[in-house]
Amino acid sequence: MASSSSFHFLIFLSLTTFILPSEQAQKPSKPSKFVLPIHQDTETNLYIANIFKRTPLLQLPFVVDLNGKVLWVTCEQSYLSSTYRAPRCHSTQCARANTPYCHTCSSKARPGCHNNTCGIMASNPVTGLYAMSELAQDVLSIPSTQGSNPGPLVRIPQFLFACSPSLLLQKGLPGNVQGVAGLGHSPISLSTQLGSHFGFAGFAPTFALCLAQNGVVFFGDSPYYMLPGVDISRPLSYTPLIISPQGEYYIEVKSIKINNKEVPLNKSLLSINKHGVGGTKLSTTNPYTVLEHSIFKAVTQFFTNELSSIPQVKPVAPFGVCFNSKSFKSTRVGPGVPNIDLVLHDQHVVWRIFGANSIVEARPGVSCLGFVDGGVKTRASIVIGAYQMENNLVQFDLARSRLGFSSSLLFFKTTCNNFNFTSIP
Ligand SMILES: *[C@@H]1O[C@H](CO)[C@@H](O)[C@H](O)[C@H]1NC(C)=O
Ligand SMILES: *[C@@H]1O[C@H](CO)[C@@H](O)[C@H](O)[C@H]1NC(C)=O
Ligand SMILES: *[C@@H]1O[C@H](CO)[C@@H](O)[C@H](O)[C@H]1NC(C)=O
Repeated sequence: MASSSSFHFLIFLSLTTFILPSEQAQKPSKPSKFVLPIHQDTETNLYIANIFKRTPLLQLPFVVDLNGKVLWVTCEQSYLSSTYRAPRCHSTQCARANTPYCHTCSSKARPGCHNNTCGIMASNPVTGLYAMSELAQDVLSIPSTQGSNPGPLVRIPQFLFACSPSLLLQKGLPGNVQGVAGLGHSPISLSTQLGSHFGFAGFAPTFALCLAQNGVVFFGDSPYYMLPGVDISRPLSYTPLIISPQGEYYIEVKSIKINNKEVPLNKSLLSINKHGVGGTKLSTTNPYTVLEHSIFKAVTQFFTNELSSIPQVKPVAPFGVCFNSKSFKSTRVGPGVPNIDLVLHDQHVVWRIFGANSIVEARPGVSCLGFVDGGVKTRASIVIGAYQMENNLVQFDLARSRLGFSSSLLFFKTTCNNFNFTSIP
């Protein structure tokens, strides 16, 4: 339990206006789910979650990586915690994390540097850099929720994570972050460990993203409420969730329509093969949707043809086509432009992208189509980026291997910024 002085210290360190609830001493009623507040870094457009870890509890900022395999944190400096443990090589924890490596370290013993512990790879999702890290376990605490407000913090005493060298933080990540929180389909990702904490009976292995400047990630099944009391999980459309050989989340996009007309594409690029090449991935670490070069060319050409009466202006990087912002009427779902439909496994299941998720004001007065050219040698042919998921609920239902999506919440007169962060003790 935190003493009252460290309690004030925590408030001081907290980087959001999120109110620290008191930690739950006993467990009265089992929480049905957890909620993690996230916010968008204005410089990198990455999403950051402040997560409570260690003893005494400290709130640390992590980049949210939908496809990351672990939660990793830099441990070289000032890792102070009375509950840090590094499981021995070949222990059950190492087996659970699926790490066959035994870790050695030649410098002075400290968190992240022991002999005969197990080694685990951690990666920076922006630079692609990897580093061998020490598998570690320590306390992680996260607010429970009934769906509409944060409730008491729940303590997970033996949370497994990677204790990584600080060089992994170099480049690509916001300056203040201490690591990356992976939500991928892998044995010790944050979503897997939170899912298994209560067993599958009271806690479905399900989580949902609601991305916005001040958004949330829910762990556990719906309902999820946004002010003014809207259940944003009703109704959802569903499509099969495909897990790639790398443990990343994919869906099947069969075709793309603009203004209800099919864009001619090389269809063989749209399916994922057994090596994990091709297909459509979802990502929170790509700010905008990335399209393989031929798909990018076809989509941007088709889109501009549909808008042929509107003059283009000089494009602003990283986008390919831009317009004068004044050319578009504003609608409830953003600038009035042709809808872009991702037609999924069944021709009646469509992820419709409205102006709010397709048009980016790249500079005052300049509005661009928010897709970027991935070149010819892409692993996934389409990577659905964060901007296209903003203010949409996107639910990863691993028990039923399906992805649920809401379409734009602007239709329901709410946004992902509208979670009520007043905590209920
Ligand atoms: C690990 O073992 C090596 C060789 O015995 C030793 O030099 C080193 O100091 C040890 N490292 C730690 C962190 O104890
Ligand atoms: C379609 O894409 C596949 C996979 O990249 C490629 O092998 C094939 O040549 C392409 N077909 C056309 C007509 O460009
Ligand atoms: C947020 O939740 C608190 C606690 O239930 C409630 O008192 C408050 O009215 C809610 N805020 C709004 C804007 O409804």
